[in-house]
Amino acid sequence: MYLSKIEIDHFRNYKKEKVKLCNKINIFIGDNAQGKTNILESIYILALTKSHRLGFENNIIQKGFHSCKISGLLRDNEILKELEIKWIQDQKKVYINQKEIRKIAAYISNMNVIMFCPNDLDIIKGSPQIRRNLLNIQISQLYPLYVNYLNEYNKILKTRNEYLKQLGVNGFSDLRYLDIIDDKLVDRGVQIYLYRKKYLDYINTKIGSIYEKIMNIKGLHIIYENNLDLDSFELESIKKQFYQKLKSNRKREISQGMTLYGPHRDDFSFYIDEENMKFYASQGQQRLAIIAFKLAEIFLFTEEKGSSPILLLDDIFSELDIQKRNKLMQYIPQDIQTIITTTDLKNIQKKIIHQAKIFIVEHGNITEKVE
Ligand SMILES: Nc1ncnc2c1ncn2[C@@H]1O[C@H](COP(=O)(O)OP(=O)(O)O)[C@@H](O)[C@H]1O
Ligand SMILES: [Mg+2]
Repeated sequence: MYLSKIEIDHFRNYKKEKVKLCNKINIFIGDNAQGKTNILESIYILALTKSHRLGFENNIIQKGFHSCKISGLLRDNEILKELEIKWIQDQKKVYINQKEIRKIAAYISNMNVIMFCPNDLDIIKGSPQIRRNLLNIQISQLYPLYVNYLNEYNKILKTRNEYLKQLGVNGFSDLRYLDIIDDKLVDRGVQIYLYRKKYLDYINTKIGSIYEKIMNIKGLHIIYENNLDLDSFELESIKKQFYQKLKSNRKREISQGMTLYGPHRDDFSFYIDEENMKFYASQGQQRLAIIAFKLAEIFLFTEEKGSSPILLLDDIFSELDIQKRNKLMQYIPQDIQTIITTTDLKNIQKKIIHQAKIFIVEHGNITEKVE
């Protein structure tokens, strides 16, 4: 799939911009703080309705204004879709072909994006929440049902935690209501485990060989870490273990007023053979492992959706040496839409520049560069 046009209106430092993108490589060049990340962010938001900059969502609307809009024309195989997202103050609305879509799950599976950015190192170094968030975003783009399970799970989890707190304060002895909540929690939770397992299993079929080709190091793989002590990912055994954990930890959960077991506590790690990269790998190795993870995702998206995702590369070339940059570009399929930002064209191979559409970003203005 590809985005043939993006229009932004009072978004961050842009007043009104309309950009026609090509279906292969697009490069946005500009100095710092001109609006390069903002343009990629607008594309990311158009796809996912949320920013990739966690905790940085308050200033989406241009300073001094109270509404903003992002819209774009998406071509997916032969189908053309007009996507649009509008904010009026805190209120967000999304549209496909001018029709409002009320279910986020039905919206975010339309346009698929994979973002590479300098903050990605946090995927190895940061908190488990960052990794769960990545899993949730990526799996949601592929499987709309996952979004429903996740939303329901989170709601039930909240109710359960509130009830556990009440039990702790009031010391009720009637636990039947908790049993009912547990049934629902396990039912949705099991589905989340299954989707995440399937996703990471797929990544593992590709990531090792990609990393080996770029880094010449064998053995990269992901380990899915859950707190149920599962030895099998069969639906029935997950269910059994989940119930067992909840039952045997009730007292502890009531005294702490929160649910201690379940997919909301999931994590995953990058390993080279037996060694966790968080502790043993250099920053460069970690960076490339994350890139390999995302390159593996391209294959998964393309296979599952029958259409390639759109790649967003935010200033990642400055972090890599020339050899690694070139290897990375070799791995990006030729026919996939790629949108790159950089401060300097020198960071990008001539061969790539020749086939790219180039834009100059200056103070929130975008102009196409014509040779
Ligand atoms: N809501 C906003 N209104 C106006 N300007 C904004 C808003 N949010 C961010 N900016 C400005 O956008 C600029 C940063 O743009 P960014 O795309 O991150 O730059 P870069 O080109 O370095 O990637 C900063 O100058 C920042 O002040
Ligand atoms: Mg930037």
